[in-house]
Order: sequence, then structure tokens, then C-alpha cells
Amino acid sequence: MEVRLLDLSRQYRGIAEEVRAAVDAVFGDCAFILGRRVAEFEAAVAAYCGVKYAVGVASGTDALLLSLRALGVEHGEEVITTPYTFFATAGAVWNAGGRPVFVDIDPATFNLDPGRIEDAVTERTKVILPVHLFGQVADMDPIREIAERRGLRILEDAAQAIGARYHGRRAGRFGDLTGFSFFPSKNLGAAGDGGMVVTDDEDLAAAVRALRAHGGRDRYVHEVVGYNSRLDALQAAVLSVKLPHLDEWSEGRRRHAALYDEAFRGMEEVTPPPVPPGHVPIYNQYVIRCRDRDGFKAFLADRGVGTAIYYPRPLHLQECFRGLGYREGDFPEAERAAAETLSLPVYAELTEAEQNHVIESIRAFYAGRAG
Ligand SMILES: Cc1ncc(COP(=O)(O)O)c(C=O)c1O
Repeated sequence: MEVRLLDLSRQYRGIAEEVRAAVDAVFGDCAFILGRRVAEFEAAVAAYCGVKYAVGVASGTDALLLSLRALGVEHGEEVITTPYTFFATAGAVWNAGGRPVFVDIDPATFNLDPGRIEDAVTERTKVILPVHLFGQVADMDPIREIAERRGLRILEDAAQAIGARYHGRRAGRFGDLTGFSFFPSKNLGAAGDGGMVVTDDEDLAAAVRALRAHGGRDRYVHEVVGYNSRLDALQAAVLSVKLPHLDEWSEGRRRHAALYDEAFRGMEEVTPPPVPPGHVPIYNQYVIRCRDRDGFKAFLADRGVGTAIYYPRPLHLQECFRGLGYREGDFPEAERAAAETLSLPVYAELTEAEQNHVIESIRAFYAGRAG
């Protein structure tokens, strides 16, 4: 049996007619750039997150970049973030003109460890950039407390976490600004690249809106140099079809996660991802820690089970950031996570038989090793 890590065609089959009609409608009036469809989707995301403003941009990476620019990060000002995330988190800081300052993760949640943030704050620190990794919100109460006390801004990297809840509120409610990604593999995925910035701050929303269109607030009048980074009307049309299904798809992922949790209970070789009280994750990835990760991954591949390593090399050890002066051993928890974790298939349309095959294969690997 083949079980892919993600099969987007199954989701598409369920909504194909609606998606095609939405795409046809865009071609009906050929309004491709911004306009009504983008504005309607922005309003729908703002309402979904419970915030006042949403600005559609070209990708999740740009959502972060434009947010950092809107916050005025420049000239090597410091942005505290995690080394255990997708590259774009720190790449956006760099491209905005800031300096990423890494802080190790909490080994239980894989998210920024609030207890270590304060030691990294200097007079050049401007922003804290927590990532809601794998679809679980970072521990935002202590992070907000530090930011308020030290006069710092917060940008949430919620690229993987649209709809994830923390003490009853959805991602997007905990920072000055929040960036979402609609990369196709996200819980709310476009038919290509797309992203969104949400905020309750009218001025920041206006700044991002200007930055996505070359920095001009009025046509042909530019106070700052911006980008061409708009969400396409075609993507907004597709995403508007998908948004009403998002919660049901995330609920499907939570059901699969609960079955895995149950199956791995008592297995000492596999640690399921813990969910602290007050959190409702969306499981953009279901990531376990496991013994002999690489042998285990190869064994699963032989049995037709697709898995992935998110992320094999922490960002402080990337060649491009060598100039920041970090070394191996600086962030032991991030390095350990990079060596021990594996992402299993968890998408909503996964069948019971497929999930059972994954679970049985995992049991077989460790049973074989014990014997
Ligand atoms: C944590 C994180 N940040 C940023 C991004 C960047 O998003 P995009 O691929 O839409 O540019 C991604 C996703 O790819 C991500 O997972």
C-alpha cells in the first residue's frame, strides 16, 4: 500500500466544481489584480481570525517581509526568533534589513521557549517573531508579557497555523501583525503562492497595503520603496471557496492526530507531539520524535509510507547566516529536534486503512529492532 505524506487531489475532488466556477468567474470579467474578490477574501479572513484588517500579499514569505518593513525594522535592528523553522522566517528578517537573533526552542512544543527570550534582548531588539510551528500556537502569554515590559513589537509567523487556537483565540490575535501562508500544502492552500497579513492596527495595515504595491499610498506617489506583492484575484477566488471548509479539514487532521497519539501511547521509541492545556492545534504537520529517525524513515519508505523531515538543519547553522557568528551546539534543543523528528501523513482525507498501515509499519519497525 502506498500512503503519501499529502495528496491534494483528494481535497480538490470534493470541491472541484466550485473551484472551477470561481475560476471561470474571474475570467468572466478578467479582473486579475486586486479588486472585489481580493477585498472579499481579505474581509473573510479578518472575520475568521477576529481581527480588523487583512491584506492579501503574494506569499507567506512576503507577509513576513512586508510586516517587518511596516514595523520599521532596518539597519541591522534585531528580531528575536527561533532557529527551528522554515527558512523564510529568518530570510524575511534578513531581507527587511534586520538581524535574526535566535533563541532555543521548548523541546516539548518545538516552539520558541519564552524562558530564554529575555536573555537575548538588547537595546537593538525591535521585534519578537514567534513561529506557530506545525500548526500549534507558541506560548504567547509570556511572550506578550516580555514584549510589553521591554517595549518590543510582536510579529506572529502563523504560516502553518491558520485557525489554531490558544486559550480560545485564533492565531492572528497575539501580535501587532501576523503573517499567514497559502502555500498549497498549508491547511488553507491556494493553487500556487499566496499570503495574508492581519492586524488590528489601522496604520500598520495601511503601511502593508502600500508596501504590497510599490510603497505608494496614492498612485504614482511613493514615500517608501515597496514591492510588487499582491494576492492574485484568481488565488483569492480559489481560497474563498476553500475557507468555509477549513475548520472541517483541520478537525479531520485532529482526529487522525488523536488516533496516532493513542497508538503511540506507551511506545518508548516514539514521542507524539504534546498539546499543552489551552491549545487547539491544526496539525499542518504531525511531527513525532523517534529513535533512529533516519533508519525509521527509510523503513517506512520501503513500506510505501511517505514522511518528511521538518527541518533537518536549524537556521543558525545555515551557510548564509555564517556571518551571524553562531556555531553548532549553540541551540541544543533545536539541533536535537532537527535530528530526531519525522512528519507523518495527517491530511484530512487520509483513510482509516491508510492510517492503520502507517501505525502498523511503525510498530513493525520497532518490534523488529527489539527482537
Ligand atoms: C513557518 C513558515 N514561515 C514562512 C513560510 C513562508 O510561506 P510561503 O511559502 O507562502 O512564502 C512558511 C511556508 O512555506 C512557513 O512554514
